[in-house]
Amino acid sequence: MTDNAEGPGRARQNVIYRDGVLGRNPKIPTDFAALERAARKKVSPTAWAYVAGGAGAGSTMDANREGFDRWKIVPRVLRDVSSRNLSVELFGRRIPAPILFAPVGAAELVHPDADVAIAGAAADLGLPYIFSNQGSAPMEASAAAMGTAPHWFQLYWSKDEELVDSLLQRAEKSGADAIVVTLDTTMLGWRPMDLNLGSLPFARGKGIAQYTSDPRFLEIVRDRIKNPAGVQADVEVTLGAIRSLISMSRRYPGKVLQNLRSPEPRAAVETFLDIYSRPSLSWDDIATLRQRTSLPILLKGILHPDDARHAVDAGVDGILVSNHGGRQVDGSIGAMDALETIAPVVEGRATVILDSGIRGGADVFKALALGADAVTVGRPHLYGLALGGRAGARDAVANIVAEFDLTLGLSGLTSISAITRDALTRI
Ligand code: FNR
Ligand code: LAC
Repeated sequence: MTDNAEGPGRARQNVIYRDGVLGRNPKIPTDFAALERAARKKVSPTAWAYVAGGAGAGSTMDANREGFDRWKIVPRVLRDVSSRNLSVELFGRRIPAPILFAPVGAAELVHPDADVAIAGAAADLGLPYIFSNQGSAPMEASAAAMGTAPHWFQLYWSKDEELVDSLLQRAEKSGADAIVVTLDTTMLGWRPMDLNLGSLPFARGKGIAQYTSDPRFLEIVRDRIKNPAGVQADVEVTLGAIRSLISMSRRYPGKVLQNLRSPEPRAAVETFLDIYSRPSLSWDDIATLRQRTSLPILLKGILHPDDARHAVDAGVDGILVSNHGGRQVDGSIGAMDALETIAPVVEGRATVILDSGIRGGADVFKALALGADAVTVGRPHLYGLALGGRAGARDAVANIVAEFDLTLGLSGLTSISAITRDALTRI
């Protein structure tokens, strides 16, 4: 992106306006509101509930937006902004813009190519993708689609320690540059949109591909089958139950027909639901990570400055200031409000990434001005995926990069390090 003399903002405008002359409108709407509307029309009600839904009444998602709205950019003029450089270095890798693709589970709900398509989209832009532990494809398959672009792995800390080690080893082996441990989802939040439809993708075998591709996980499943007390008694045979069984069997490794006759797919789902996450997780567990992986470690879901301090004192390499896109605790603090108190505590001793609520280039600018080193985007790339697969996910994030580039220049700045608190005013 930086080698384009015009910068990504003007380059993208040119593509879109030139297509317009030929009578073609962009397939991926260029603002979030239109992107969201289009994606909603495209996907099933259960898929929409899962991807768009938040915890409780959705007030944390509102707080994320209000957090951005409280800050205003104060543009400066006459500063020669003809040449801009958006690139940053993260953990030894230079990336063309301070934007990463956030980990998202069960992306197959919106597009069959799911994680592999998102990985391809991130690779097209040279931006990192953080593979979800709840992915719809094994991390090895997504890694293969990344080419030379960086990828990280997001870990959900399982109740089974050997599974944690196995996932970490696979992440290292598949070339991950960092491990992101998500701390705010030791239990799923109360999500009425899913609950009202009785819909949880994992219960149908969607979004558990990291598990069903894991040797340690399969060992646990087979042990469970050997011990009949561990297998759920016969479930009521309803149309829904049969659909779920087919869904599980299609996703489990091996032949569908064989899987339909085998207890394994159902046992895999039950095993997953039992062990995927551990509410007893504590700082002592985090302390063991250094011995278990040589990769940089980041903690995702930090909102309190004391937790940020603890994380830095514990020697982690980075934190993601995040409320999980408002999916976990209703009535929680907005991510930008948290960043305001956390950035001064970290003071450059660790990498700070702002996650939750990024919708456009101005949001990226504001987050960096408040002290973030980079941002992650979640729903925008998923909505792009829903509308256009790999190219859709790519364009949705390319639009954010483009708008960020123009915001930077039109605010009178030409580099990432020049974006400071002075560029903002609070209303
Ligand atoms: C997520 N998120 C998430 N986070 C994580 O650490 N592991 C995961 O598996 C998932 N899964 C997931 C699925 C879906 C459908 C969404 C929308 C989100 C949270 C994600 O990484 C990120 O924190 C938020 O999406 C950021 O907020 P925005 O950009 O969606 O507002
Ligand atoms: C979610 C989990 C999987 O937000 O992170 O749905």
